[in-house]
Amino acid sequence: MDIVLASSNKHKVQEINDIVSVYNMPFPVKFILPPEGFDPEENGQTFAENSLIKATEAWKLTKGWVLADDSGLCIDALGGKPGIYSARYAETPALRIERVLKELEGEENRKAHFTCAMTLINPEGHVAFKTEGICEGTIIKSARGVNGFGYDPIFLVKGGTRTMAELSEEEKNLVSHRFVALNNVLNFIKNIK
Ligand code: IMP
Repeated sequence: MDIVLASSNKHKVQEINDIVSVYNMPFPVKFILPPEGFDPEENGQTFAENSLIKATEAWKLTKGWVLADDSGLCIDALGGKPGIYSARYAETPALRIERVLKELEGEENRKAHFTCAMTLINPEGHVAFKTEGICEGTIIKSARGVNGFGYDPIFLVKGGTRTMAELSEEEKNLVSHRFVALNNVLNFIKNIK
């Protein structure tokens, strides 16, 4: 079963296919990139709304099974920011980290979580399933680690001693918000054939 992943991020398609490959699916499931021309306007107010916007746009182009995700970092002391603005919080990933650390200067409450909302649309164009995955942690005071992307170097996973960027890809894929959400989606897909 091919499912279009409503994203132009090749790294994300790879990460999701890696997660699927270790999941015991009763039939082959492969995520593929959408065709050229996929350029949704992410103007929703929540992760769930944005994932629905992306999924709908990709379905219009493909009319098949489509999965969209929308994710970001939510920091308690910043009232949930950067949230849906995670990718746009500053110009580069390094500047985005710098901004977050500056905004948290002197702040005792470092609690944060990554959220990933997913929407699955069927070939008839209806939402077949939607879910959210969360990964809890805290924001440390300076970046550590070189793996992953985005805010990984400042995010210490709850119950551990390493940042997301200090975990291997395989380790991150077992705890991430994307893994939790995808797990729910795959459990749903498993039962539709
Ligand atoms: P999107 O879901 O591709 O729109 O991702 C939004 C932004 O959230 C990314 O550009 C990152 O800044 C941040 N983000 C989402 N997932 C992760 C993650 O697993 N690690 C670090 N940053 C993330």
